[in-house]
Amino acid sequence: MEDPILLTDAQIQRFICDGFLAFNPSVPEGLHETIDQKFRWIAENEYNPGNNISARVQEIQQIVDSPEVKGALLSLLGHDYFMIPHRFWHKPEPRKEEMETLTQERFKEIVGGNSHQDNYSPPSPGRSHGLQYLRVMYYSHPMELINGPTHVTPGSQYNGDVEDEDRAREQPVLGAAGTVFISHFDLIHAGSPNQSDRVRNMLKLLFAKATEPGSPTWKHECPEWKTPSDHQAPYLIENLWRQQWRWLSGANCEKENQVEGSFLEPDQWASMETSAKVKYIQELSLNSECIPFLIDQLNTSHQAVRSSSIYALGEIGGAAIDPLVRKLLEAEEPEDKMTDLVGGGFSMDDEAYALTACGEDALRGAARVIGSNRPWSQVNGLQVVIDLGVANEEILTGIEACLQSDSDQVVSFACLALGRVGDERSLPLLLKVLKTKYDTEHHQQKLEINKHNIWPIEYAIHFQAAFSLVRLSKYAAPYEDEILEHLHHPFGQVSMMAGECLKRIGSASAMKSLVEFLEVRRWDASLTSQRSF
Ligand SMILES: [Fe+2]
Repeated sequence: MEDPILLTDAQIQRFICDGFLAFNPSVPEGLHETIDQKFRWIAENEYNPGNNISARVQEIQQIVDSPEVKGALLSLLGHDYFMIPHRFWHKPEPRKEEMETLTQERFKEIVGGNSHQDNYSPPSPGRSHGLQYLRVMYYSHPMELINGPTHVTPGSQYNGDVEDEDRAREQPVLGAAGTVFISHFDLIHAGSPNQSDRVRNMLKLLFAKATEPGSPTWKHECPEWKTPSDHQAPYLIENLWRQQWRWLSGANCEKENQVEGSFLEPDQWASMETSAKVKYIQELSLNSECIPFLIDQLNTSHQAVRSSSIYALGEIGGAAIDPLVRKLLEAEEPEDKMTDLVGGGFSMDDEAYALTACGEDALRGAARVIGSNRPWSQVNGLQVVIDLGVANEEILTGIEACLQSDSDQVVSFACLALGRVGDERSLPLLLKVLKTKYDTEHHQQKLEINKHNIWPIEYAIHFQAAFSLVRLSKYAAPYEDEILEHLHHPFGQVSMMAGECLKRIGSASAMKSLVEFLEVRRWDASLTSQRSF
């Protein structure tokens, strides 16, 4: 196998600004045509196999193993990344005739209407500004505008919501057969109408970071942050970008052009254009007097102003922590988010992202929020720990207490937090979650609310626990037998995470058990409906 081709500093910086990168993997000649033909055949003769698509079209793995895709995953997620069981083959049917009268305006309207941030399947974790998950999208045939390319909104991966401005900025990702584009999981994107006379094939695969790499895993040469000259994100949110670069590379990046002076009058502020507001915050000389002004911008201002304020508060650090914690302790539980237990994903309150931006000092604040007994405050506090990826004893005790919460959402976030910051003591806790029943009496009612997401809550929580077992697999060897039992979990995604954990334990007995389990689940790709043996 060829060596992975790692990303460069400039590519990482582009990714931080825009949230996606496109390239063409080097693979054996004819591979894309083979995959495309298989997709076509399945579209005509079978059904969409969902998460089983990789087993059904086994050539997909050659895309994943290509030097470019592997190099991008290594560069952004570190050496021990893993594949998430959810994957999807999108195959909109050709609608050439119907689309012949489609105006440009209507096309844009359809794309805008399709704009969304992806849901997670099945748990509903909080959206992270930092890089926890990567989405890989792949076209098996040339993708021109008439084929219905996926559109993306550059720079929108840090958004709390999808706004009209984001919908209007969607742009197509075009390319030759085999084009791959990787994106931050929360980047806004949209499908577009297929105006061609063939099925449009786009495959989505998902990957997760296991542990923090600690140092750059790409072709890193220069610690200095350089704003890419060709970025497509519409606002210069330099403080956000510098912080992402610092988290990924461990580098220090200095702020420039500080502006001294009194704050603007409310009327003056209200009349300013968004880009002027962003510039003003970016250049503010930061001190504790700025805190009330910056906190006022959170949650409800334009997203670019919110993001600038979040990271300005982070740069102030210490003095901002208590006011942010007070806001989180008072935060009202948004009904739409707390009922979104399965098959969702939502942004947290901006105060949580600002606390994370304050760095490790924020742990003392996060501990208070986690210990508050208010579920919405708790999930925000847990998200801070998940995003920071560090903890202390007080935090670990708080997370353990959250596992006993009556709120399924709090339990789910606590499982995820343990996977990020836990240690050998966390394994029995996660295994206990995997043996606990979580279907509450309200479950059926919740299914009625969202009929498309038909996972039991229990599956979402168990998935989160099994996902965290993978992240903590270096401590998992003493629990091999218990993990083995979960290969037979009724939910396949939990089983897959248990299998991934056993693979990482890597003992002879773990590997033997895993092979025996997989042996009876082999897919014989040489069989067809014409010849079944
Ligand atoms: Fe999507």
